[in-house]
Amino acid sequence: MIAIGADHGGFELKEKIKAYLDEKGIEYVDYGCNGTESVDYPVYAEKVAEAVATKQAEKGILCCGTGLGMMLCANKKEGVRAICTNDSFSVKFSRLHNNANVIAFGGRTMGIEAVLYNLEIFLNTPFEAGRHQKRVEMYDTIL
Ligand code: RB5
Repeated sequence: MIAIGADHGGFELKEKIKAYLDEKGIEYVDYGCNGTESVDYPVYAEKVAEAVATKQAEKGILCCGTGLGMMLCANKKEGVRAICTNDSFSVKFSRLHNNANVIAFGGRTMGIEAVLYNLEIFLNTPFEAGRHQKRVEMYDTIL
């Protein structure tokens, strides 16, 4: 299961991503928000991060205006490794080397085609483990 959430700045992007997940038959839980009325992004980042940290969700997707507030908040939760980038190479290596488990997107900064392209990479690229396993474990000890 994928956990997905957004604030008002990412709401419309979240809805487009949900349409993509529906089309692909990927199961998800939507943690809100439910419209474009102004809300506080940390509320939704925490819900999605909690679902990932407790392993209710395998991965998380967060959308806000830039993706940055969501990424910053999600990374405060132990066991969460959140990224925010429009660079496909970095998305791929965030999975291979960093075992990233949350991706944040910017509804005001990223186009839907690039978002879906990068989401597909994020969802389908495995963690390489090996020499990266220890480094990810070290990351998780920094509290
Ligand atoms: C909301 O205006 C905006 O600050 C938020 O969506 C996000 O971009 C924060 O990082």
